[in-house]
Amino acid sequence: MNVVVIGSGGRENAIAYKIKHSHGLNKLFILPGNPGTENLGINVDIDIMDNQAIVDFCKSNAIDLVVIGPEIPLVNAMADVLRENNINVFGPDKLAAEIEGNKAFAKDLMQKYNIPTAGFKIFEKSCYSQALDYIESAAYPLVIKASGLAAGKGVLICQNNVEAKEALKDCFEDEAFGLSGSTVVVEEFMVGQEASVFAITDGENFISLPAAQDHKRIGNNDQGKNTGGMGAYAPAPIVTPEIQAEIDETITAPVLQALKKEGRTFVGCLYVGLMLTSDGPKVVEFNCRFGDPETQAVLPLLDGNFLQLLYSASIGKIDKASVIYSGGAAICIVAASKGYPDKYEKGLEITGLDDASGNDILVFHAGTKKVKGKVVSSGGRVLGVTAVVKENDLALCKAKAYEALKKIHFDNIYYRTDIADKALKK
Ligand code: AMP
Ligand code: GLY
Repeated sequence: MNVVVIGSGGRENAIAYKIKHSHGLNKLFILPGNPGTENLGINVDIDIMDNQAIVDFCKSNAIDLVVIGPEIPLVNAMADVLRENNINVFGPDKLAAEIEGNKAFAKDLMQKYNIPTAGFKIFEKSCYSQALDYIESAAYPLVIKASGLAAGKGVLICQNNVEAKEALKDCFEDEAFGLSGSTVVVEEFMVGQEASVFAITDGENFISLPAAQDHKRIGNNDQGKNTGGMGAYAPAPIVTPEIQAEIDETITAPVLQALKKEGRTFVGCLYVGLMLTSDGPKVVEFNCRFGDPETQAVLPLLDGNFLQLLYSASIGKIDKASVIYSGGAAICIVAASKGYPDKYEKGLEITGLDDASGNDILVFHAGTKKVKGKVVSSGGRVLGVTAVVKENDLALCKAKAYEALKKIHFDNIYYRTDIADKALKK
């Protein structure tokens, strides 16, 4: 098979790594890719917002499967356009991708089909005064979310009415999230531990991959600002087999059926973001693609043929036995540039990459580029360093990951030192 992976982050590096090591691969292209994917296939510099350019590329290279990594091209109808051109694609159409791209739609869908989630109200910008009235008498903390895509920044947790007013002003008056904030979801605050589950689906049937836990805040002990994710580990022991079965039964199966019923059949990876509350698992959010950095921890744990899993799902006949998790643990630690998620320096030379990589260490590139043969940083989250062990031993895995990280250098490198501690403290 000739395969295209769309994207250029750590997630896409991990996806390309798994495809590269699957039976049945002929050529692998990564559009546009990064210095980490360069060793796995051919990077091609194409504008991934130009759907026609992607179609043309696929036709001239006899592509059998396109795997779309990020949400933006999915919401921009890349999968629709590829399917119209009879090209197999792993990733949902635009309408199904609204499960992430339109939180108001996702919440209404969950309500209509009795899928457990936080109680909520939706307000359009034209109903600003009703929203202000509502937050006067609401219970706090209260969560205010921009309905559209906001790169993980559109969620405001408000402790009181003053903060809630400020959040509404951000969305409606100051347009901090552009059009994405012209509709807001005001949500009840849920208490519990979070977990992420990837459901791989052909639209009808699915398999859930081992659950992971992300670390969204910049600082240790979940302090400081929200980020795109500072590290992840899998499997997350808090998601016991019983809880996983409950998630599959009460959330994943019904939401896939609901999407199908609404004429929005979802083919691809449905990311189920969960809060494990005292009333059982509830949905925090759905994403229409693999999560990052969780992908960098979950995928290395899978045995079997990952390409076959994605291909079989793309043609509507998911081969659930194509991959299997048969034990082991993985931890991915994100190495960032100090200052992220605010201002940070770019262009910092990175050394020690080969030294750090090994049998049980995978170094995935996220924000890097090559300048005159040298790898330099080009983003806030620079690398994902993943340790994988065969034992179900997160402590051993953590020690290996941090040992590997010590071999990597760039100026002002920053990482959290407590990845997976939540599981280790249990
Ligand atoms: P989201 O982008 O919807 O995943 O939200 C980002 C983060 O905000 C989540 O990972 C949670 O930590 C937090 N969050 C979002 N919604 C809620 C909620 N209803 N209750 C508590 N925390 C939430
Ligand atoms: N790790 C969270 C996300 O991918 O949205």
